[in-house]
Amino acid sequence: MQIQIFQDKESLHRAVAQMFIDAVKAKPNIVLGLATGSSPLETYENMIKDHQEKGTDYSGVVTFNLDEYIGLEGTHSQSYRYFMNTSLFNGLNIPLDQTNVPSGIGDVNEICKAYEEKITSVGGIDFQLLGIGTNGHIGFNEPGTSFDTRTHVTALTQETIEGNARFFESEDSVPKKAVTMGIQTIMDAKKIALIAYGSKKAAAIRDMVNGPITEMMPASILQNHSDTTLFLDEEAAALLKAR
Ligand code: F6R
Repeated sequence: MQIQIFQDKESLHRAVAQMFIDAVKAKPNIVLGLATGSSPLETYENMIKDHQEKGTDYSGVVTFNLDEYIGLEGTHSQSYRYFMNTSLFNGLNIPLDQTNVPSGIGDVNEICKAYEEKITSVGGIDFQLLGIGTNGHIGFNEPGTSFDTRTHVTALTQETIEGNARFFESEDSVPKKAVTMGIQTIMDAKKIALIAYGSKKAAAIRDMVNGPITEMMPASILQNHSDTTLFLDEEAAALLKAR
């Protein structure tokens, strides 16, 4: 794993966005894996700004998001499809039918199978963006998830439900299940960038980098990935051993 530590969030997001912009320019039909949540938001803002000012072309890009809540329509303001449309896709020239977010409505087992097949059919994910949960989850692969999972249905932990409750009317209205790419799906991405900032993420970053590779710390498997870069601020990096 390569580690880049930034003094401020602005330069961190600029650096991640630039990595994606360069990748899109180098391969106009690139397959991107994307994340939701607070971590990538300003990265997406930078990508939109670059597209508007410099015209980086996304017309040939294909995207796959990590996850979606089960039970929320894509039009629901807390669905990840809605988040992606409003936070990124609507600001770029990417046709929406080239953007894939697993549906949380319908026969979810069939949806999982079809999602994996679609990723395979376009040749796999070239560049995957990740955040990390305070418990070390990537996607919605919570501690204890097998490292060999592919896209599947998962129950969210209480910690994740509480973490996401701020976006809903109450904790009760947070969906309890999600569809998520599996850990093996993520590991198959040719290149990975993971964003983490703030002291709340410091223990998870320490454990994923310096701890043992264990299914109890899902992100620790990234130690085995050949091309992963962590983009951290000083606070998230504060507990790392060798700095
Ligand atoms: C989002 C996702 C999650 C988040 C993680 C961190 O699609 O899969 O793993 O990346 O929960 O969330 P934030 O960025 O809100 O701290």
